[in-house]
Amino acid sequence: MKKEDFIYNNNFVAPLSGSSHWESPSNIALVKYWGKSDLQIPKNTSISFTLSKCLTNTKFDFVKKTNNSKLIDFEIYYNDNLKEDFKPKIQSFLERIVTYCPYILNYKFKINTINTFPHSSGIASSASGISALALCIMSLEKLINPKITDEYFYTKASFLARLGSGSACRSLKGSVNLWGAHSSFNSSSNLYSINFPYEVNDIFKTYHDAVLLVDKGIKTVSSTAGHNLMNNHPFGEKRFQIAQENTDKLSTILKNGDTNEFVKLVENEALMLHGLMMTSDPSYILIKPNTLRIIESIREFRFKNDIPVCFTLDAGANVHVLFPDKYSDKVYNFIETKLKVYCESNSYIKDCVGFGAKQL
Ligand code: DP6
Repeated sequence: MKKEDFIYNNNFVAPLSGSSHWESPSNIALVKYWGKSDLQIPKNTSISFTLSKCLTNTKFDFVKKTNNSKLIDFEIYYNDNLKEDFKPKIQSFLERIVTYCPYILNYKFKINTINTFPHSSGIASSASGISALALCIMSLEKLINPKITDEYFYTKASFLARLGSGSACRSLKGSVNLWGAHSSFNSSSNLYSINFPYEVNDIFKTYHDAVLLVDKGIKTVSSTAGHNLMNNHPFGEKRFQIAQENTDKLSTILKNGDTNEFVKLVENEALMLHGLMMTSDPSYILIKPNTLRIIESIREFRFKNDIPVCFTLDAGANVHVLFPDKYSDKVYNFIETKLKVYCESNSYIKDCVGFGAKQL
């Protein structure tokens, strides 16, 4: 689909008021999105696991405006508390989508959101938060135009979510999602994510992701600033090419269930991402000494026990520990006894591959 296909331009009978309510998960990239051109067009394809416990729950109330004001009008709450500091990000998201959802100008919104994971855990909440909001807005569109198909509903929700935060477009559906045009995937697009269209081996459908909270603070360099540093990065073009190749390789691994190859590819992607940050101009480092201690311990444990447990990183110091369900007792014991000491307040989240967003 083209971006013009997402512009709402029908006549409609709009409801006077109402509400929608969605819960949407976070996701963890295996092949990373790092680098974009304007308005959230990724420089390469990315593939992610959808998570199941790191969720944002968003209630969206709308009331038709009584005046003709053409300003975006909303209030944002976190757990029933007014959050003025959330406003700029949501304002710019709504401004970006107004071309596609012009009906939002006719309403006043109250957005009340809450995360199931600690708010200050350093876990990116934009993927779950923006995708939940995009789904709420699509529920409003569906009320205005009940004829839209489920496929259009989810594709446009992903398209809208992408405009708020790139990785958010991969959070709507379960298990494995792919975003970014790629010649091996006919239905792939830079504009929205698709559910991974080929076979996924059962072993990956119940994979675990223990998120070790090494640093709960706010990142010193935002993802958006990091993406921008990929323009004119000395390794940029090579990186984008490798990511396309890794997408093909991961596609084969996801089908054949080769966990050893999975370990190699996923760790390489994580380290490449942070290598790119370290070699940006200006250079910056987001991992912490404890991130490296965890990485070394995971590699030692894997080698000694012959268990295909691996790590991945997002744009921060926290470590995602990925492993098949059949090793979960052993790996959680390892985390409890050896890794959790490296986490801030010994904290980590036991997550696993999930089923996507849910309407409440
Ligand atoms: C390292 O989606 O947070 O987690 O599009 O600027 O909002 P914006 O960036 P964001 O970047 C995510 C980067 C990443 C890799 C990934 O999730 O693919």
